[in-house]
Amino acid sequence: MSEAIAVLSQKGGTGKTTMVRSLADVFERLGMDVLAVDADPQGNLSDYFDADPNSHPTLGDVLQGQARAADAVHGRVVPANLRLAEAELGLAGKIGREVTLRNALRDLRRSKDLILIDCPPTLGLMTVNALVAATHAILSTEAQYFSLQGMEQAMQVLDLARDSLNPELELLGVCLNIANMRTRHARQTLEALRERFGDKLFRTVIRQSIVYAESAERAIPILDYRPEKGADYLLLTGEILRRLGKQEMLERLDELSAEVVPARAGATTG
Ligand SMILES: Nc1ncnc2c1ncn2[C@@H]1O[C@H](COP(=O)(O)OP(=O)(O)OP(=O)(O)O)[C@@H](O)[C@H]1O
Ligand SMILES: [Mg+2]
Repeated sequence: MSEAIAVLSQKGGTGKTTMVRSLADVFERLGMDVLAVDADPQGNLSDYFDADPNSHPTLGDVLQGQARAADAVHGRVVPANLRLAEAELGLAGKIGREVTLRNALRDLRRSKDLILIDCPPTLGLMTVNALVAATHAILSTEAQYFSLQGMEQAMQVLDLARDSLNPELELLGVCLNIANMRTRHARQTLEALRERFGDKLFRTVIRQSIVYAESAERAIPILDYRPEKGADYLLLTGEILRRLGKQEMLERLDELSAEVVPARAGATTG
């Protein structure tokens, strides 16, 4: 069974979707067969993958029991749209409501090398489903006031998923995202995160840059659009590979880094 990583945060706009898209791209370039799952009715990840807005079936249909997950794979993504919100409401009163996504993805976990799940900006039933379906979780946070408080809420939901339905679930790490390290506030946030999360905090900080919005708009991965910024995601991938115990892939990552950002060669394993 492959790993499944859910990317979540307590609030909106912390760069979750961009992270899922960018990591999916890097892992693919490393030769993995990656599936991205859009668990957000906003459908941003689906857009970023340039999925046809009329794709059918989508994750909503799968969770409503009207389609198999394998049939809802369009290209490299299981897309979502507003039907997912409907499906979530429908699940609410049902027995097994928290394990629906896990059951739906079971076969794909066997056939794919890695599954990345993009959570919505709430800690509701969809995020719980993602955490129950996942082997690992990444918490994404922005350097904003109250973000630490939000992190605690996200941690509580993670603990809940682990204690009740998914004892194997592991916090892969916490990532400071969309950060402008020139500001004192961002540096203080990083320090506070380090104090709270210790080794679980990724050393890589995803720098704030307008090129992410531009690349999303054009549905082009950041490594194609602006490789020098995408280098942050190469570094993050290096940390993720180590934490997953996939050291054997680091060499390939270094080759990839040398290829796309020659100036940074050696940075991912160094
Ligand atoms: N490193 C970055 N620097 C600057 N902008 C970024 C960065 N990463 C993402 N963004 C932009 O910030 C906005 C929010 O990003 P994204 O959609 O990935 O966040 P999200 O957490 O998925 O949001 P939501 O909670 O609504 O799902 C988008 O316009 C995106 O292009
Ligand atoms: Mg999103």
